[in-house]
Amino acid sequence: MATPKLSVASTFPLPNSPHRIPRLGFGVYQYPPPTCVSSCLKAFRAGYRHIDTAQYYANEPSVGRAIHESRIPRSELFIASKILYPGKDIEATYNMIKESVVKLDGESGYVDLFLIHSANGGKESRRLMWLALEKAREEGRVRDIGVSNYGIKHIEEMKGYASVWPPAVNQIELHPWCQQREIVAYCIQNSIVIEAYYPLVRNQKAHDKTLLGMAEKHRKTPNQILIRYCLQKGWVPLPNSDTPARIASNADVYGFDLGVDDMGKLDALDRGRAGALVQAVHN
Ligand SMILES: NC(=O)c1ccc[n+]([C@@H]2O[C@H](COP(=O)([O-])OP(=O)(O)OC[C@H]3O[C@@H](n4cnc5c(N)ncnc54)[C@H](OP(=O)(O)O)[C@@H]3O)[C@@H](O)[C@H]2O)c1
Repeated sequence: MATPKLSVASTFPLPNSPHRIPRLGFGVYQYPPPTCVSSCLKAFRAGYRHIDTAQYYANEPSVGRAIHESRIPRSELFIASKILYPGKDIEATYNMIKESVVKLDGESGYVDLFLIHSANGGKESRRLMWLALEKAREEGRVRDIGVSNYGIKHIEEMKGYASVWPPAVNQIELHPWCQQREIVAYCIQNSIVIEAYYPLVRNQKAHDKTLLGMAEKHRKTPNQILIRYCLQKGWVPLPNSDTPARIASNADVYGFDLGVDDMGKLDALDRGRAGALVQAVHN
């Protein structure tokens, strides 16, 4: 669908929440601390206001430092993190989440969005992390809570223990070669915001003929086409780059529109589970 009025400041509402999520995020996976600070600052200068980190990335203090050094009012930023493993009980897991909040935004701060990083740990692990996230939300340390790499069965399972349902977002691998249509349709049906990781396919499809042809037609780079594709699908892309020019160009995706034909050609590249770089969810 054409979405000509999108801008870097565009947001989506989050379910059961007064808060909104910026439609473009900046991922910081695999950034060592010094690079992480400078890349986040470059991203802020390029207009991004949404940073996606995780406990597993071991760079939450660097994101916190960049927030502080940017001097952008905290209320204008949207900071997300993730928890991969629970502690021994809800309290211990809650304390792990609180530690992340302190690293990112200080003793009295908050995180906008906290996700369960993966469904892989088993039902008890998923339950513990969700109940700890609900507690963090109740206490105002986290504004909204969600999941990542969850299939339909994992989100349905939550109905057995969750007070907060649906999860605000589901962050999954998404790009033209891995469109995960079943879980995407389920999330849309339940008003769950869909976040796209690996939106650039880690630059591995930069020489794909369909993509190159479209980039040439629109006078854009292949990666700008991929980000614009996510935005027009209604997904929140989280591109990652450590290169200043690319950080800026990945946010410069608003002066053009992919037409119905273009979107159809990209849709036709879907290879299902086989197209995933890392993992498609289990429904
Ligand atoms: N929830 C999960 O399980 C999960 C899993 C994976 C990722 N994520 C999230 O998703 C984010 C994005 O994932 P990702 O970084 O692995 O993949 P990505 O954004 O698809 O690709 C990043 C790679 O593409 C290169 N790149 C970026 N812009 C480019 C451009 N304009 N031209 C050419 N190359 C470009 C980058 O290199 P340079 O740095 O050299 O530019 C980097 O190597 C992560 O940072 C993380 O926040 C979440």
